Amino acid sequence: MEFKTPCRFFVLIALAAVLLPSYFAAGQSSATPAKENDVHAVGPRADSQIRDKATTLLRQMTLEEKIAQLSQLPGVPIPEFQENVKGSIDDVLKQVGAGSVLWVSDPKEINRLQHVAVEQSRLHIPVLFGLDVIHGYHTIFPAPLAMASSWDPKMVEDAQTVAAQEARSAGIQWTFAPMVDIARDARWGRMIEGAGEDPYLGAAMARAQVLGFQGKGMGSPDRVLACAKHFAGYGAADGGRDYDSSYIADEQLWNTYLPPFKAAVDAGAGSLMSAYMDLNDVPASGNRWLLHDVLRGTWNFQGFVVSDAFAVRSLAVHGYARDPQDAAEKAFNAGLNMDMASGTYLKYLPLELHQYRISMAQIDAAVLPILETKIRLGLFEHPYFNEARMEATLNDPSHQQLARTAVQRSVVLLRNEGSLLPLDKSGKSIHSVAVIGPLADGQTDLLSMWGAIVKPGPTVSILKGIQEKIGSAVRVAYAHGPNLRRDIPSPFEDMAPTNIMKEQPAQTAEEAQRSIDEAVALARQSDVSVLVLGEIALMSSESASRSSLKLSGHQEELLEAVSAVGKPVVLVLINGRPLDISWASEHVPAILEAWYPGSQGGNGVADLLFGDANPAGHLPVSWPRSTGQLPIYYNHNLTQLPETSKDFKSRYWDIRSTPLYPFGYGLSYTTFSFGNLTVTPTQQVENTIKVSAEVTNTGRRAGDAVVQLYIHQRAGSASRPVRQLKGFERIPLEPGGKRTVEFTLGKDELQFWSPALKKWVVEPENFDVWVGEDSGAALHGEFRLTGQ
Ligand code: NOJ
Repeated sequence: MEFKTPCRFFVLIALAAVLLPSYFAAGQSSATPAKENDVHAVGPRADSQIRDKATTLLRQMTLEEKIAQLSQLPGVPIPEFQENVKGSIDDVLKQVGAGSVLWVSDPKEINRLQHVAVEQSRLHIPVLFGLDVIHGYHTIFPAPLAMASSWDPKMVEDAQTVAAQEARSAGIQWTFAPMVDIARDARWGRMIEGAGEDPYLGAAMARAQVLGFQGKGMGSPDRVLACAKHFAGYGAADGGRDYDSSYIADEQLWNTYLPPFKAAVDAGAGSLMSAYMDLNDVPASGNRWLLHDVLRGTWNFQGFVVSDAFAVRSLAVHGYARDPQDAAEKAFNAGLNMDMASGTYLKYLPLELHQYRISMAQIDAAVLPILETKIRLGLFEHPYFNEARMEATLNDPSHQQLARTAVQRSVVLLRNEGSLLPLDKSGKSIHSVAVIGPLADGQTDLLSMWGAIVKPGPTVSILKGIQEKIGSAVRVAYAHGPNLRRDIPSPFEDMAPTNIMKEQPAQTAEEAQRSIDEAVALARQSDVSVLVLGEIALMSSESASRSSLKLSGHQEELLEAVSAVGKPVVLVLINGRPLDISWASEHVPAILEAWYPGSQGGNGVADLLFGDANPAGHLPVSWPRSTGQLPIYYNHNLTQLPETSKDFKSRYWDIRSTPLYPFGYGLSYTTFSFGNLTVTPTQQVENTIKVSAEVTNTGRRAGDAVVQLYIHQRAGSASRPVRQLKGFERIPLEPGGKRTVEFTLGKDELQFWSPALKKWVVEPENFDVWVGEDSGAALHGEFRLTGQ
């Protein structure tokens, strides 16, 4: 499709549009023209009213205008797009409009483009502006894997509510989040964007995030449209290599990979993004079984599906479509509503219609949910952002406070030998702290790749957080240590607007050694060293898979050299995946996993290091001992010679095959005991079981226990996982405090998709149940389901 710069014809149309009342404005009950300063709330609308408005609008549209609604235009120059679509974004917006524009984060530019779409297009349909607001827009919260480590869905919902408020105030109405891909292989760079390996925790986090972004019913002026991604199976990429094919058996799809998507849909997610990779040899973005049969047929999804960037065009690259036109047809017929950034729909769908390969009825059905979403979001009344309101929203101090709380609640204490932590900040027992490492004074790196890409406000580094925490009572000195960079650069490093992310410059071996020597000298002069190691932002997320989990560069040498000084060492990890810390797990007394903690990372970590907060984060992934154990996950099946049998040693002869730290694991500065497990009733015909257990804070500090419930079905139509998480609750307890926690096991928790019977079943069998602090919980009970 060729879009021309304005000719007389379009000038006339534009004039007519200005002079004549627009169809849509006239169709509004309020008939109020959009005003920039208007911030009235848009109340929830009845579905049929929305459908009527959308249908009436649809009837006015030309074929080109409809196809434009099925297209998302890149807000930055993209050669692949420009091959298909001649003319500027402004030209396209004026001449046919667009469903959406992405990758524009400057609010002024958003407003400018929106003015073009609303004022200069024939039907004045506003554009939906989309961006990857994954864990914050200005206030960056801990990355999703970190937030999942909080096991606190309410906090996660609150954080994403703030992210939505900030984004919406700056003109973004659509976030490409939550990312709900299950990840069992830490080599895959995108593990950090999701909630880890478990479908139950993943579903809880998916639900919480959708509610945070959208609110209970989409339409509030300070919320955004959510987009659950990447549908589906992206996390199972072969070898953890980003974009590689996934092969997932039906059993695994239904029981493990799809539940978080189902939870997002049930929570009202208005959009889904299709994944890049082949799923069982059919690319997800052209997979009718996924996008139509499962999503719309089985789950009754009413929103719309957008492809991942260029994924429509890529169907030809996969060797699935013959050419770009065939790619457009295959994606469209699979049920994919919107083409992200490739311009393939814009160019080829008109041809498809003219060649009778697709019908106008299909096009209408694809456009309708997009129009409905725009109406529901209140875009027609309030298409523009309001600068004064944006400033007030972005600078709301409660956002930073919540971000700090989120860090305190997300960090996982992995090891604390001899109760080295918390450190004394009074200056009595510790007079000097060395803060060491290539991430110790990092700011952008604390934000993760997506947090750095949006419009982040100031970030508190770990060094700064520690300095502010201990003031002048304790001397704080800093050594950077050797630089950190990828062996093969990230494609995102130079990509606008991400050029704030940089790798650290290359060093010679001598330079690296000198920086280690400086760090060691500093450690010698200090009472304690806090080493901040891990991965720069570009080492995780998209295009950031790795073949080894080892501490990269010279970090292991730095760690061992500083430890050899013989003074206490605390290791703080900033990273997007579990790393191989087998040496540290035996030689470094205290290890704190902070993931990418966001804007308030330094303050939150300092709160924990010095005991103003008590860690209660628990791992949302099994932590491997070495890369060779991947993929690793706790909810595997029982097989010959289970880990619990007396003869079991290891499944490998060179290393123990169990994880270094199990799924659900996390320490506290206090301790908890679990007892009095009751299962009521132990035999049940209605499939509802109540499980309760008593938790006691047995230490001397207040702290949160993350109480987890696991089940195992002992026999059935298929082998069942050794354990499956089916309930959790994070509860605060004062020293000596005690609480009974109760869980309900109903159909949702007891059913599974049986590969033998090819359907969901609840089977009358014997079950084990455990309650405790991680997936190795010992407190055990049992029950039997006797069937209907
Ligand atoms: C590609 C990524 O896979 C996806 O997660 C992201 O939302 C889009 N690009 C848009 O930036």
